[in-house]
Amino acid sequence: MATQNLDLVTPRVGSPRITVIGTGYLGATHAICMAVLGYDVLGVDVDPAKIDALASGRVPFYEPGLPEKLRQALDAGRLRFTTDFDEAAAFGDVHFICVGTPQAPGSHAADMRYVDSAFIELARRITRKALLVGKSTVPVGTAERLTALVQEVSPIGAELELAWNPEFLREGFAVEDTLHPDRLVFGVASEWAEEQLRRVFRPILDEGTPLVVGDLPTAELVKAAANSFLATKISYINAMAEICETTGADVTVLAEALSHDARIGGKFLKPGLGFGGGCLPKDIRAFRHRAEELGVGDAISFLDQIDQINLRRRSRTVDLARELAGGSLDGVKVAALGAAFKPNSDDVRDAPALDVARMLYLEGAKVVVYDPEANVNAHRVYPDLDFVESLAEVVDGAEVVLLLTEWDEFRDADPEALGDLVAERRIIDTRNVLDADAYRSAGWEYRALGRPAHVELPVAAESEAVA
Ligand code: UDX
Repeated sequence: MATQNLDLVTPRVGSPRITVIGTGYLGATHAICMAVLGYDVLGVDVDPAKIDALASGRVPFYEPGLPEKLRQALDAGRLRFTTDFDEAAAFGDVHFICVGTPQAPGSHAADMRYVDSAFIELARRITRKALLVGKSTVPVGTAERLTALVQEVSPIGAELELAWNPEFLREGFAVEDTLHPDRLVFGVASEWAEEQLRRVFRPILDEGTPLVVGDLPTAELVKAAANSFLATKISYINAMAEICETTGADVTVLAEALSHDARIGGKFLKPGLGFGGGCLPKDIRAFRHRAEELGVGDAISFLDQIDQINLRRRSRTVDLARELAGGSLDGVKVAALGAAFKPNSDDVRDAPALDVARMLYLEGAKVVVYDPEANVNAHRVYPDLDFVESLAEVVDGAEVVLLLTEWDEFRDADPEALGDLVAERRIIDTRNVLDADAYRSAGWEYRALGRPAHVELPVAAESEAVA
């Protein structure tokens, strides 16, 4: 199928005007990409700092490729930003709501305050037929509840319709995933709503992107189910890593062997420190919480295990560090390589890397952290940790080095050169990305999650046996 170049599509006469409420990670990307696709877009947020940054061409988070697209959209005059909900209500034909649903304080439930308020504030002001489209990840049943609520407060009553369009973009690949998604999902309650969504996503649908249309609760569930499945796959291989650790087996070899089975596949089967970020952890907890509320908690009680397996990788890493340090971390100088929840991101929400750094610190280690992009965000969360600006500085004098986020800079480092800087050549590769043999040959005590502690180099093993 021919792939159309979606880099700058000419605007169509009579195209729907789009607003995007919430210009965080998801909303900013959606607004920018919709403008790039040729629509007139208004981005809306209650935070003037975010709006000012975006309006002046600055993306307030790290996302490769997005600043260039923002510039393109602003230069083309298709994208504007405001904090004014009156302006948004007057402007838009289709309103996308992209505000966050963080984990509620003291609970596993999703905090719905921002979603509810965005829908209500907008609905109150809408005076002509329009479509409100939820993109946020929400507990199943939210769209139905919100439909009643917005139709009650809106001057146009039932003329204001609601749809759900879950978003599957990955941080680090946000532009690609938005412009060329592997599927689109529309949750609709009327043919009119479906028609509007088809118009809005026409350039993407014309590329041959698969479209799945369902009702509102199904569309809401797709997102929860997708993220739960991905989390399950990661925790599955990390559970195997635990078995490997007590049997002397190697989880990286095991994962490779599984990956060749086309029914299993190799994606999301990378063993290591596990998942974090603004989505997977909170989404599986909120899904579990919602299932309990609905009286079907047993159906997905296994998600508790998925969460536990994931968190155990962090404490296992601390155990390994303690072991390498000779039994106690007190006063030990530890280099933490990485703070972001994954590479090519500055996001430290529920980041396994930063959590491990925090746990090491609480055990008395002198923790120094370096992340190529996430230092500022990480420092905001844990100001007690020491942050430095380079790989050379972070490993300087370290007694134990931990690779926690698999940035290329860390993968590509030379074990000899690093070895010259540390106090002790001891490293824990929590992401299983380093060349173990190269490190061991350079005299490092190399440890990894799910892999045997002592692998003799083949030649040395034989000669020792003969001796
Ligand atoms: C995820 C989903 O992929 C996306 O569809 C959804 O919309 C939002 O959540 P994102 O949070 O950007 O996207 O990260 P992703 O690339 O999916 O990685 C999630 C976490 O899993 C990361 O912490 C990553 O390090 C970890 N991971 C991923 C593994 O530990 N092993 C793997 O094999 C894959």
